[in-house]
Amino acid sequence: MNKIIRKIQLSDDVFQMEIEAPLIAEERKAGQFIILIVSEEFGERIPLTIAGADEEKGTITIIFQAVGDSTKELGKKSEGDYIDSLLGPLGKATHIVKYDKPVVCVGGGIGVAPLRPIVEAFKKAGNEVISIIGARNKDLLILEDEIRAYSDEVIICTDDGSYGRKDLVTAPLKEICESRDPAEVVAIGPPVMMKFCALTTKPYKVKTTVSLNTIMIDGTGMCGGCRVTVGDETKFVCVDGPEFDGHLVDFDNMINRLNTYKHQEEEHNCRIGL
Ligand code: FES
Repeated sequence: MNKIIRKIQLSDDVFQMEIEAPLIAEERKAGQFIILIVSEEFGERIPLTIAGADEEKGTITIIFQAVGDSTKELGKKSEGDYIDSLLGPLGKATHIVKYDKPVVCVGGGIGVAPLRPIVEAFKKAGNEVISIIGARNKDLLILEDEIRAYSDEVIICTDDGSYGRKDLVTAPLKEICESRDPAEVVAIGPPVMMKFCALTTKPYKVKTTVSLNTIMIDGTGMCGGCRVTVGDETKFVCVDGPEFDGHLVDFDNMINRLNTYKHQEEEHNCRIGL
């Protein structure tokens, strides 16, 4: 059982929770994730990227969007409540190196949460970090201060122009590829955003890393639900990733697979009034 130490509502349906998990806090590295089971009653396994950790306090931070049964149930938990099970850290850590040229970190929507520890790790390794974060509107933008804390420069984009530039994140990314010759781009967000980030950087031959955590189900290599095509190979996101070379990922295949159960999910949500 893991105790919830702190809970913050970041936007309408996005929550941040600090949870007691001393062993995970000690071991985790940027890019890794946990599997969480909210309660015995809601036994579904939820893979969530670790958004931060405090080794001294023995806590980890997760950020999630309450969109399905289990995450909605998790969102109802309060400070002082317990989570039945936490497993981790899982997955391969982000490959952090010191470059002579800038690193660009791009996050969209809830993808800014898994991006945060990566921004921190690149900065602590001595890199110049340029962060581009985006959301549909100002109210949905998360973790701006936390991203600023470890970035040399932050560019904000919103779809409706309510904050920062009225642009897609790919617009400033293209400008930076043209003018700053970045060493690496890390993009995390909706699959379609990562697809277009990879297409943007490809002509400039900039190494581009994407995190495919949204396709995971059980997170332990057993269900096969997270299969993706990377180059000529089939990979399991939870075992071989979650990070891959964005120029090799077949995003169209991934997006089709993500939509496979959309109809059933919508029917289920209608039935239970979500
Ligand atoms: Fe089930 Fe990877 S999430 S095999």
